[in-house]
Amino acid sequence: MSLGYDISTSARSKAEESRYSVSSPYTHSCHSFQSCRPGPPPPLSFSCVRPWYRKTLSHLQPATMRASSIATALAGGITMLSAAVQADPGMMNSSVLEALHEADRRPQELIGDLQWLRPRQMSPVSHLIRSILVDGFDAQSNEHYQYVPPLRSAACARDTCCVWWYIAKEMSQLFRGTDGQCTDAARGAIRTGFHDAGAWSKTTGDFGGADGSIVHAPEEMLRRPNKGLQEIVQQYKFWYDRWGHFGVSMADLIQMGANVATVVCPLGPRIRSFVGRRDNFKPAPDGLLPSPFDPPDKVIAMFRAKTIQPLSLAALLGAHSTSRQRFFNPARAGAPQDSTPGVCDVLFYRQTLAARSPPDVFRLPSDVVLAEHPLLFPAFKAFAGPGGQALWAHEYARAYLRLSLLGVFNINNLTDCTRVLPPRTLKW
Ligand code: HEM
Repeated sequence: MSLGYDISTSARSKAEESRYSVSSPYTHSCHSFQSCRPGPPPPLSFSCVRPWYRKTLSHLQPATMRASSIATALAGGITMLSAAVQADPGMMNSSVLEALHEADRRPQELIGDLQWLRPRQMSPVSHLIRSILVDGFDAQSNEHYQYVPPLRSAACARDTCCVWWYIAKEMSQLFRGTDGQCTDAARGAIRTGFHDAGAWSKTTGDFGGADGSIVHAPEEMLRRPNKGLQEIVQQYKFWYDRWGHFGVSMADLIQMGANVATVVCPLGPRIRSFVGRRDNFKPAPDGLLPSPFDPPDKVIAMFRAKTIQPLSLAALLGAHSTSRQRFFNPARAGAPQDSTPGVCDVLFYRQTLAARSPPDVFRLPSDVVLAEHPLLFPAFKAFAGPGGQALWAHEYARAYLRLSLLGVFNINNLTDCTRVLPPRTLKW
């Protein structure tokens, strides 16, 4: 029976369908949510949607204003940034900020098809992404749906983002623990977003990157850097099996999953989320993900080859604020990389810079040496200092948006579905 959805973007053979007939490895943690069970998700009415946002938006106002003032300042450069600091002296030490920007003086590069599109050929989405990547505009947004049509309605079928609202809701139920903090699945989703998109460099062109191959190509799971991602990869197969017939790609599921997980983690930024990436079933090029034993200059060069400069690398490492290593040092499996792994805070920066970490915290050697590197140290210090949380959220959102679009050469045709994300989590 046709549901009226355009499934051309993910037209899969019967063989592929059966390959993805899997169950969720995390289903046990979804006890209170009907939509976590296999089978078609239940319809959700408007009455379910409104209170969800009404309740949370009231908390969002001050944070929104604060983040956007920083965003405006960053977009305008260091002069305006100093003005913002003067307006809020507790916010940031301006000399630290100047040093931070000094570390990232190189012009931000364009990626994918944005490199050759002329302004008049660019879609509104391309203009928006360009302004974030190059001009420093904020990649965070609180846009939300006013009304979400029922899943199987014609109105939902006409709206590319509608199905994503249902997917994001289901994901957030898995990513939020009963204590309001983020779960192991959330950590796994953030890391998977990096490992799928990050297997790309300027030399690989349209091969690799955010293309879903980390799930589609089983060979990638045998690679050492991907150790520990087996459960979340199984979860993505389950979600693809469940939602793929709506026309969603694995590449988008993974990047949407990372953004949902980030915003579900308390204090995590709400990063603009785009859909329309194409899948690839070939394994991504090998050797493009960092090792925790790599010397800092090698890691910096590796990220530069992905168009990610040191300030953005420092911001991305903040993902380790939610992390718990299991395989790097099996003797300390489950040890977090800061004292609050259920929260996307900036304690990671303070504890990585500190002379000694608390006994329960396990610092990855790469984090420690990168924090001390002259190109990253100013950013680590700024994120660890007063006002660091808002600054980090702004920089992380921009850097992650770039990462999530590596190897994507149809940016001009993407759709902005930011409105499907859950609200930011400011209380837990
Ligand atoms: C120099 C770059 C990086 C290195 C060397 C690195 C290395 C690692 C290692 C060794 C682990 C522990 C894996 C385990 O033993 O279970 C880990 C976990 C993690 N990493 Fe990274 N990472 C880097 C950058 C990033 C970036 C850019 C992100 C995301 C934007 C990220 C997100 C995570 C997350 C969320 C976890 C926790 C996974 C879990 O708890 O299941 N990492 N990383």
